[in-house]
Amino acid sequence: MFAKTLLAAASVAAVMLAAPLASAETVKAAGTLKSDQPGAVINKYVYGQFSEHLGAGIYGGTWVGEDSPIPNTRGIRNDVVAALKDLHVPLIRWPGGCFADEYHWRDGIGPRDKRPSRKNNWWGGSPESNHFGTHEFFDFAEQVGADAYVSINVGSSNPTEMREWIEYMTSPGDDTLAQERRSNGRDKPYKVPVIGIGNETWGCGGAMTPEYYSSEYRRFQEFYHKGADNSGARIAVGPSGDDTNWTEVIMKNIGNRRMDGISLHYYTLPTGNWDKKGPSINFDQQAWVDTFDRTLRLDGYIQKHIAVMDKYDPEKRVALYVDEWGTWYDVEPGTNPGHLYQLNTLRDGVLAAANFNVFHKYPERVQMTAIAQTINVLQAVILTDGDKMAMTPTYHAFKMYVPFQDATMIPLDITAPGFTLGGKTIPSFNASAAKAKDGHVYIGIANMNPVDGLNLTIDLGALKAKGVSGQVLTAPKMDSLNRPGAKPEVVPVDYKGGKVKGSTLTLDIPSKSVVVVRLD
Ligand code: AHR
Repeated sequence: MFAKTLLAAASVAAVMLAAPLASAETVKAAGTLKSDQPGAVINKYVYGQFSEHLGAGIYGGTWVGEDSPIPNTRGIRNDVVAALKDLHVPLIRWPGGCFADEYHWRDGIGPRDKRPSRKNNWWGGSPESNHFGTHEFFDFAEQVGADAYVSINVGSSNPTEMREWIEYMTSPGDDTLAQERRSNGRDKPYKVPVIGIGNETWGCGGAMTPEYYSSEYRRFQEFYHKGADNSGARIAVGPSGDDTNWTEVIMKNIGNRRMDGISLHYYTLPTGNWDKKGPSINFDQQAWVDTFDRTLRLDGYIQKHIAVMDKYDPEKRVALYVDEWGTWYDVEPGTNPGHLYQLNTLRDGVLAAANFNVFHKYPERVQMTAIAQTINVLQAVILTDGDKMAMTPTYHAFKMYVPFQDATMIPLDITAPGFTLGGKTIPSFNASAAKAKDGHVYIGIANMNPVDGLNLTIDLGALKAKGVSGQVLTAPKMDSLNRPGAKPEVVPVDYKGGKVKGSTLTLDIPSKSVVVVRLD
């Protein structure tokens, strides 16, 4: 094992776009798999998605309408549904985001031609036709095979509106709201396993203090009437980034009986500057390092929030829902700045895997996450352009990690050498392991080193394995990408770099890559 240091003059880095600064070497590292000390189950909801009424996330990306020439089922794109089914998407959070706190559910039910058109004030002032409403969302989720996570308007609404929407969606009875749902075409109640009571109430969801919000939360949740028809997990708005004061006040004032989860939002901006976040393509190696440096901060933030939660909830009843995460770059030039459209490169794929490896460390608390956002917005898994669709590098990382859904975490102790550039050091790689429902042990590795390959030796301990197979996701450039209508540059291929000898697994892993292997 050795620490590798690259010191490059900033002026040189600035002119080199997406090209390696140093010739490749192989970093050696070792790890130990503790297969005799299994951890908790990695909840499949950790692989959740977030779909907001924002830009072309819903309109164009998900919903094209029944009369569209783009192949669809009841208005929902067939290509997108097929791609998401392959990801085994467990949960979709909807309708926002900031949008949720201006959303009135009655706008989105009944005959579409009678639904009001509103202004989407948060996202570019674009028209909101309301053609995608409650029934269309559940149709989408059911076509994909995902559970629903519905975000309730707390910021500009009241508990009555929430209660009536919940009743409309979930009541099996003969009450007027259930009858109304039936008259709109849905007999059986919808299942709402997760409900978010507000979104970012510290910001776009009402600019509240944590003290004020906790009172609001208690009021709203009282009228939620958690019970047989509404058994959904109640998620309180949690902190942004490392705001542990917010977590502290919420945990203290709400307690661990009135809520089932608390959210955490964290976005990765390469520069950390909201006015100039950095581009999604044509970035240099320093931007790569800065991006990983910032994304890995989430690990420390999760630990800090868990420490606060442990104080008020030692029984671990309350889960941590990282229900908005991912990269946030400058919008693609020429697109509406309010639509948050960005391209998605190999960097995003490796970053997604690095975050999965972090989430897997805390299976008891981190019970759900949702990447922002599913289609055409921020770190999208899918990009569309008219009738064309691309599965992004982030999509492929999600697909490679499918076996981790509901798998049992197995501790994997590793020491990762650092990669240093411009005074910043990131770990060359991170990794996680789990025993999947198919009985096999899987190991996922994100090699964040943009230059060097990795030779990783893992002591398998008590685990008996005869062979290893898997997939690798990499590409020639840091910003190789997949975009609609163009030949994809980043696609997973069979991985041939592993071997097992006795109780030792050796993996040769290319630079800037994701590898997921299965032990046979
Ligand atoms: O994902 C985009 C926005 O980011 C969401 O609407 C909001 O919750 C967050 O600030």
